[in-house]
Formats: sequence, C-alpha cells, structure tokens
Amino acid sequence: MTLRSIIAGTGSALPKRCVSNAELAKTIDTSDEWIVERTGIRSRYIADSTETTATLATDACRRALEAAGMDAADIGLIVLATATPDQTFPSSATKVQASLGIDDCIAFDVHAVCTGFLYALTVADSMLRSGAASSALVIGAETFSRILDWEDRGTCVLFGDGAGAVVLKAERGDRGILATRLHADGRHGDLLYVDGGASTTGTVGKLRMKGREVFRHAVKNLAEVLREVLADAGLESDDIDWVVPHQANARILDATAKKLNLPPEKVIVTVDRHANTSAASVPLALDTAIRDGRIKRGDLLVLEAMGGGFTWGAAAVRY
Ligand code: UT7
Repeated sequence: MTLRSIIAGTGSALPKRCVSNAELAKTIDTSDEWIVERTGIRSRYIADSTETTATLATDACRRALEAAGMDAADIGLIVLATATPDQTFPSSATKVQASLGIDDCIAFDVHAVCTGFLYALTVADSMLRSGAASSALVIGAETFSRILDWEDRGTCVLFGDGAGAVVLKAERGDRGILATRLHADGRHGDLLYVDGGASTTGTVGKLRMKGREVFRHAVKNLAEVLREVLADAGLESDDIDWVVPHQANARILDATAKKLNLPPEKVIVTVDRHANTSAASVPLALDTAIRDGRIKRGDLLVLEAMGGGFTWGAAAVRY
C-alpha cells in the first residue's frame, strides 16, 4: 500500500476582536453595502498587540494536536506558511516549536503569500513520504493587519488575521494527500506586493494591489490548477465532495466553481466572517467545515489558493 500523509487533526485560532464593515465605515470612506456586494466580506478579526502570527499559530496547533489525539512531543516537523512573521528571524515555526515545548524537531517557515499553505503542505508531504519525519504540523498563520495601509480603502477592507493548522501523519493506505500541484510566475510581482523589506527599504512596508487584474488572473489560474490536480489524482470534478478554496473574494469562488461546473453548495465559504487571511485562509476554512460537521472522514477535498508572486496551487486530499 502507498505511503501517504493523512490529515490526523485540524485546528484554528482567531484574534479576540471582530471588526464589522460598519465599524470600518466609521473611519474609512467605504460602506457595508460596497464591501458585501464586491467581496462577500461582512467581518474580519484583527489582532491586538499581544496577538501575533506565532501566538495565533501556537493556539491553532494546540487545537489540531488535541483533535489528532497526539502530544506535541510526537511532532518531527513544523512547516509554517506566513508572509507576516513575528520577526525577520528567527522563523515563526521555531517560536511555535518553543511555545509547544518541543525540544528538537525540524522547523522552518515557507513564504508564498496566500498560496503559502499549499506550498507548506506539499513540502511537508514530500518530507513525510521520503522519511525525514513521520508526523508534521503544517500551519498557515498571518497578521496582515500589520501591513495594511489603513488609508487605502481598496485594500484595507479586504484582509483579516488568523491561523489554521493540520497534523499530518505518514500512514500506508488509500486516504491522505493524493496529489499536489504548485505554480509561480514572478512576472506579475507588481500586481500584488508589499512596498518594503529588510534588503530594500529597511522597513516592513504596506500591501499594494491592482485588484481587478489580480481577480482576472485568479479565476483563470485556479480553474486550471484544479483541473491539473484532479487529473494527477485520476479523478473527475464529479468526484469532489468539497472545494476548500483560498478565501479572497466570494465572486472569485463563484466564478471558479462555475468554470469547473461545480455546484456552489460544494464550496466552503468563510470569507464572509474571516475576510482574506492569506496563508491562513485554507486551513482556517478547512477546520471550520470539519468542526461544523460538513466535511466528514472519507470525503474527497480539493484545496486551492492563489496569491502574490503570483503563486498558485492545489491539493487533492481524501480526508
Ligand atoms: O489574496 C490574494 C488574491 N487577491 C485577490 O484575489 C483579490 C482580487 N481582487 C478583488 O477581489 C477585487 O478586484 C476587489 C474587491 C479588490 C475590488 O473589486 P472591483 O470590483 O475590482 O472594484 P475596483 O477596484 O475596480 O473599484 C471599483 C470602484 C472604484 O471607484 P470608481 O473608480 O469606479 O469611481 C473604487 O475607487 O469602487 C471603489 N472602491 C471602493 N468603494 C467603496 C474601491 N474600494 C472601495 C471601498 N469602498 N472599500
């Protein structure tokens, strides 16, 4: 039987403070009506000064370990996807490792912006199947509120903070990660970027986006990569029980589902509550739908994301 990485448990964490569109409209020239109509977003969670990418990630990991019925000491690998680490270094993965009380394991960050979780999942899956470790925590965690330009209404209303984590275990059998596909095309770096960095400006910088152009690329790339990963796994779109997409915009989710002839009821949507949490959005949506009982053991899931770089990717998983 094939050695695969199975999802043994999932967890997520959100900051305490939930901010509605109406609250944003008090200080920004926007409206609940515009945000809901153009994006489907109704609220987002914003971290306070005590909540960071690593603290949210640690909380998500504790819940994922509990769901998997495992101790932190069982973990041999931590891969954390983020574009908003607590510090330039050490990695947020090693901070999570220390907070969980793990003395020794492999731990590092992966950076592919909104596609980060798919990149982290693919790396961890390869390492588990090659024998580098037998169990892993794969995390997507972000505090994008720290890199938003709160005077740019075209971007600041779209994002939120949060974390999601999965425990992967190497096991022989039919379930687990069946196929993954990753892409990047650096020619589009100027459509979605942060105008700072240690090596250029020496500042963290703020997020800048040409939203309409990103939207166009997202629908095309996501539909293509979903078709690719299904073909790699030898599956048809009819086989899918749930699509767990990156939560950037409800209109992108609808348009992508339509291109694949997928009924909208099969698409997990959390963008209304969480907004776009970048690398956290896929594991956050996955954990939400597992805990509310929609996703059940044995279901076929496809996870997908697209973000700055551009980067994009998908995974087919038998849960
Ligand atoms: O996670 C990485 C991937 N990111 C994405 O996938 C994001 C993709 N892009 C999008 O989701 C959409 O393009 C946006 C939600 C960002 C914008 O929606 P849009 O329908 O493309 O609107 P737009 O940027 O073309 O702006 C339309 C109008 C403009 O006014 P005028 O020039 O038509 O008078 C904007 O100034 O809406 C205005 N506008 C706003 N009005 C009220 C932009 N932001 C706001 C706002 N409130 N927050």
